[in-house]
Order: sequence, then structure tokens, then C-alpha cells
Amino acid sequence: MIPCQRHLFDIPDDVAYLNCAYMSPLMKPALEAGTAGLARKAHPWEITPDKFFSGSDEFRATAAQLVDCTADDIAIVPSASYGIATAARNLHVKKGQCILVLEEQFPSNYYSWQRRAEETGASLKIVAWPEDQDWTAAVLDSLTPDVAIAALPHVQWTSGGRLDLVRIGEACRKLGAALALDLTQSLGALPFVIRDVQPDFAVAASYKWLLGPYSVGLLYVASKWQDGMPLEENWIQRANARDFSSLILYTESYDNGARRFDMGERSNFALLPAAVRAMKQLLEWNVAQVSETAGALNRRLAEAAAEMGFYAPDEPLRAPHYLALRRKTAIPKELPEMLAREKVFVSIRGSSIRVAPNVYNTVEDCDRLIACLRRIG
Ligand SMILES: Cc1ncc(COP(=O)(O)O)c(C=O)c1O
Repeated sequence: MIPCQRHLFDIPDDVAYLNCAYMSPLMKPALEAGTAGLARKAHPWEITPDKFFSGSDEFRATAAQLVDCTADDIAIVPSASYGIATAARNLHVKKGQCILVLEEQFPSNYYSWQRRAEETGASLKIVAWPEDQDWTAAVLDSLTPDVAIAALPHVQWTSGGRLDLVRIGEACRKLGAALALDLTQSLGALPFVIRDVQPDFAVAASYKWLLGPYSVGLLYVASKWQDGMPLEENWIQRANARDFSSLILYTESYDNGARRFDMGERSNFALLPAAVRAMKQLLEWNVAQVSETAGALNRRLAEAAAEMGFYAPDEPLRAPHYLALRRKTAIPKELPEMLAREKVFVSIRGSSIRVAPNVYNTVEDCDRLIACLRRIG
């Protein structure tokens, strides 16, 4: 368990922010790193050509450490949707085959597949919400020989349901199906190791559990796809990018590994240092410990909420850091605003109250949410 890390964040004592699944607060050291990065632009003469590469190299190396792959396997992307679109552009599927997604999957990991299915004559196969809350079993049942691509998360975002990606990865390999992952609601709070799952592509936006800024993320690309087609063509993905004077000697060759999939202006001088600082902090804490710490707060919440008629799947079917509370009677849509008036912050997603604590939360934050729910009824 990690002792409460609130001192690293700028969260007033009277704010119970239990909404990391919406957006994490940026920790002070990451804010400082980002601010210093933004300030560089006031003195562009100090932004020497090597700076276009050093920040990106550090981002790639740190991201690679988090998922245990090599820096060459990481591309820098602006969003989860960009990473998913890259995967959809490169993975093979044809008429008569299908692409597997979950019911209520996040739109950024849905629309690209819907389009790919339309373009190829393939179909989408949607795994129905399992009554027993076991998303892993439901996915394994749905992995039939006609599945060409399984496009999945680690945590289903409206239920908190956790998928056993090691077993699913194994089943995909047996079937010859590709595996594309959106780890945005899990990476940083749920351990994930590339070698154990062996996905083809895996993306995570940085602004939630990676505790980073908005508009940057990491994309893992398995080596077998690293000669694929990027979404855009820009100068810095190419092999001659480091020699600014010869950029107009156009080349067919890309830079090594997954770098060809980098977004344009990937060397973002403000966002990358902030994202790197946050990932380094996660590495220092250790993601398994983050999971334990958030999990303990959620268990306390789940127990107290159960006394008021709320229910959620138990671990391990539910990810420890992610609690989606449901009940038989409808939850008022305006509940988040009612709670916000009390400076308690959660979200409503689908038909559940989504509670997402992290290492800056205290037991008192959880108790305040419970007290508010009791009062509001
Ligand atoms: C599961 C999941 N994936 C991705 C995102 C963000 O997607 P994007 O980076 O495309 O805006 C969210 C945001 O709520 C999410 O919940």
C-alpha cells in the first residue's frame, strides 16, 4: 500500500475528487515539468535540433518501462482514437470475418472498427454484457474462427469489469486473430506486461491513470506491424529527420521501429516532459501498489454502498481501481451536480455511479461520498 500522496497534488482539503476515470489531476512535479517545457518556446533559439528527439526518446523509454517492451516498440500519439485508427488501418480483416468488441465499449475503440467493417464487408460482433459479470468468459466464448480482430479494453469502462488479457491473448493467438487494446482506463493502475499478453497494438491516453496531460498517449506496436502504414506522413518519422539540412532529400525510408506511427509535431515540448514525469512517478510507486491502494479505497466504498442497495461485481471480475455502482432504482442524472455542490466528484456512466480513486485520495474522501449518497438517497 502506498501512503496517501495528496501532498504531491494541488487538491484542496475540502475536495473529494474520486474521478480519475474522467481525468486525473496533474501532480505538481509534472505541472512544473510541463510549465518549464512550455516556457522554452519563449526562447526558441534554445530549442536546438536535438531537443526534437531527446524528449520523445525519453517518453518512449519511460513508456516502454511501464509495459516492459523496448523503446522502439512505442509510438507517440495524441489520443486513444489515433492509436486505434492506426491499428484498424493495418490489421487484416475480410468479408465474412468479424471484429470483436464489447457491449458499451468506449466510442474511440468502436467507430474505427465499425468503419473498417463497413469498408471490408466484415461485421462487428458485439460481446453482450454477461449476466454473471464475467467479461473474460464472455469474450472467450465469442472468440470463434470467424473473428479476425479482437478490439478490447483491459477494463470495461461502464462496469469496471476486468478482462483477463493473458488468457484472451492466448486464445487469439491459437485462433490467428489479432488483438488491439485500449488500455486508457487501466494502464497506470492495473499491471500490464506486453510479453504476457502479446497484443498486436495497444494504446493508452495519458490523461487518466497515467496521470499525465491531455492530448498525448502511447501506442505499442508489435514488431511484426512495424513496417505498416501510418495515419499521416510527416518529416520527423523519416530516416533522415535528424539532419535538418537534408529534409528535402525526400526518402522512402522511415525511422526505426514504431516511430513511423508518431503523430505530427510529436516532440511536444510542454506535454512530453509532463507525461514523462508522471510515468516516472508511477514506476517509482509501482503500478501493482497503485492498484492495491486504489483497490482498498474502493472495497471500503463498495461495502458501505452495498448497505444502501448498490451493487458492483466483486474482484477479480472487477478491476480494483474502478468501481461502477448500480442499483435497482434509477440513479438521478443530476447526481454528479448534486455531489459537486458538496465538493464530491464522481461520474455517471451508463446506469452506474463511477467511482475512481487514486493515491491522492483519503478514507475521508470515500466516507464523504457515502455520507452524501445516504443523504441524497
Ligand atoms: C476506455 C476509454 N478509452 C479512451 C478514452 C479517451 O479516448 P480519446 O483519447 O480517443 O479521446 C476514454 C475516455 O473516457 C475511455 O474511457
